[in-house]
Amino acid sequence: MFLITFLLIFLSVCDETTPDIQKMVIIFGVPQTPNNYSTQVLSFDSCVNYCLNSDSCMAVYMADVTGTDCQVFEIGQLYTVKEEESGGKVAMKMNSTSTVCPLTAEENSLTTGTTINQYNITSSGGIWTFKSILCPTNFTVFQRPAGIWCMGVIPTGTPISQQTGSSLCSSTYGGVLSGLQTVDEYNYVISVVQPYLAQLTGILLKYNTLGFWVNGNRKPSCNKTVTSATCNGTNEFTFSDPLLTAYDGYIWGVGQPSGIAAGDSNCIHFGFNSSTHESMGVDDYKCTETNTTAAAFIGYVCGVRPTNSL
Ligand SMILES: *[C@@H]1O[C@H](CO)[C@@H](O)[C@H](O)[C@H]1NC(C)=O
Ligand SMILES: *[C@@H]1O[C@H](CO)[C@@H](O)[C@H](O)[C@H]1NC(C)=O
Ligand SMILES: *[C@@H]1O[C@H](CO)[C@@H](O)[C@H](O)[C@H]1NC(C)=O
Ligand SMILES: *[C@@H]1O[C@H](CO)[C@@H](O)[C@H](O)[C@H]1NC(C)=O
Ligand SMILES: *[C@@H]1O[C@H](CO)[C@@H](O)[C@H](O)[C@H]1NC(C)=O
Ligand SMILES: *[C@@H]1O[C@H](CO)[C@@H](O)[C@H](O)[C@H]1NC(C)=O
Ligand SMILES: *[C@@H]1O[C@H](CO)[C@@H](O)[C@H](O)[C@H]1NC(C)=O
Ligand SMILES: *[C@@H]1O[C@H](CO)[C@@H](O)[C@H](O)[C@H]1NC(C)=O
Repeated sequence: MFLITFLLIFLSVCDETTPDIQKMVIIFGVPQTPNNYSTQVLSFDSCVNYCLNSDSCMAVYMADVTGTDCQVFEIGQLYTVKEEESGGKVAMKMNSTSTVCPLTAEENSLTTGTTINQYNITSSGGIWTFKSILCPTNFTVFQRPAGIWCMGVIPTGTPISQQTGSSLCSSTYGGVLSGLQTVDEYNYVISVVQPYLAQLTGILLKYNTLGFWVNGNRKPSCNKTVTSATCNGTNEFTFSDPLLTAYDGYIWGVGQPSGIAAGDSNCIHFGFNSSTHESMGVDDYKCTETNTTAAAFIGYVCGVRPTNSL
């Protein structure tokens, strides 16, 4: 029954489509909770077109297809749809390069989206499942062994303490200061900071070093002790980044971390030379410091789990 419904409706929709990559596939069905959506006052056909033309729209649903109450699901807002034999309809945006209607569901690509905000749709036993990776704007997705992680480098424009960076990351994005799991993550921070520094003008350039706070707090047991096997490099710190399982991206600056004897260099920033924009590696620094004569901390690296990753 599913296949017949799917093909019939798909055929009728295909008739109207241009050779675009994205197509709307329509089934009888009902979104299952929990989910989230916005509403549009549109006829069903108009709502389907609205979704097709909106980059962030993944699917639309109308319980009464003769009405104008259309639920719009953005990427990450829909998890599952239960297929029905009649009643409300769900229109899903899919990626299909085919200019003719595929004869079977298998011939139709059920993957769509960009690298960062993408989703896959699969169907099994009358349940359509949407797997999405949705990161905040300007964040980049990293596949870590412990799960998928979104990382963003957030310049604040004015100097901030580590606590402020941590609070902003939490209040703005629901995240924590990101750790640096891999060299790729370290290089990602560089790739965002360098163009930012290149266009920076004004008072911040008077500081030789400009830093961005990253995850890490010194262990009390590694405070005021001599370096030992258990207090040596990243193991001097605890990390609250929940998906951090390796520390290869903590590439220390020359002679760093050096705060084991200082008593108050309990946080970690990622420093850049303000004139050459070169990475200076990571460095332990006083958590409450916003700026010294030589350095200013002008942003933070925030990490958050993607929305609706299954
Ligand atoms: C729906 O979206 C709102 C606003 O973005 C959010 O606060 C809420 O947690 C979401 N609900 C669900 C079930 O995802
Ligand atoms: C759509 O699918 C085609 C072929 O499978 C692929 O080359 C293209 O990158 C996909 N487009 C998007 C936006 O995912
Ligand atoms: C979608 O499927 C492709 C190929 O299997 C996979 O590489 C990608 O990570 C999947 N995306 C999501 C959001 O699950
Ligand atoms: C994303 O980054 C660009 C370039 O740095 C910036 O202009 C824009 O405001 C950022 N958008 C958000 C939502 O942070
Ligand atoms: C930044 O680079 C310049 C030029 O190589 C160098 O003179 C300066 O000492 C560097 N600043 C820091 C803080 O390392
Ligand atoms: C480290 O020791 C110094 C001096 O004893 C103290 O002021 C500071 O609060 C300690 N920091 C931690 C994280 O225990
Ligand atoms: C600290 O780590 C470095 C590099 O891994 C190593 O060479 C050194 O022996 C360690 N020091 C102590 C006291 O364990
Ligand atoms: C830090 O910045 C503040 C505000 O711009 C400034 O008043 C203060 O002098 C700066 N501190 C140092 C040590 O440069």
